[in-house]
Amino acid sequence: MKILFVCLGNICRSPMAEGIASHRAREMGVHERIEVDSAGTSGFHSGELADRRTREVLAKHGITLDCRSRQVVMSDFKEFDKILAMDSANLNELRRRCPAEYLHKLALVLTPVGGGDVPDPYYGGPEGFDVNYRQLTQAIDAWLQTLH
Ligand code: 4NP
Repeated sequence: MKILFVCLGNICRSPMAEGIASHRAREMGVHERIEVDSAGTSGFHSGELADRRTREVLAKHGITLDCRSRQVVMSDFKEFDKILAMDSANLNELRRRCPAEYLHKLALVLTPVGGGDVPDPYYGGPEGFDVNYRQLTQAIDAWLQTLH
């Protein structure tokens, strides 16, 4: 099972989701069956490390992250089993690019906890990243329970 998390810049929300999912999969003992990655619908920050505020929130919870930003590519739609968008704007953008045969792989990351958006924290304060962390932890636990 390969899961791709997607946001706009791939420096704040989706790398946070990748770090949480990788950590929780190990804690739940399902890491051999689950592979995770993240990407952005934009390539604005390609090659950059995750935002310092994302890395700080993860570090508070014992998670280190060294991934680099990359843009979603067409082969991702074939390669991954689940492609989980952080918000409806990014989900719509993925739907626009995704071949029809793979549309069933796309979903909002918060679907198993009632849906809605993980808000873009980029221009806000550090508390936005704490909110993202709480939302993502709950949703990812629910996904991992259903997917492995
Ligand atoms: P992300 O946050 O999509 O969660 O990585 C953002 C990062 C950068 C920008 C917007 C959102 N930006 O406009 O550069």
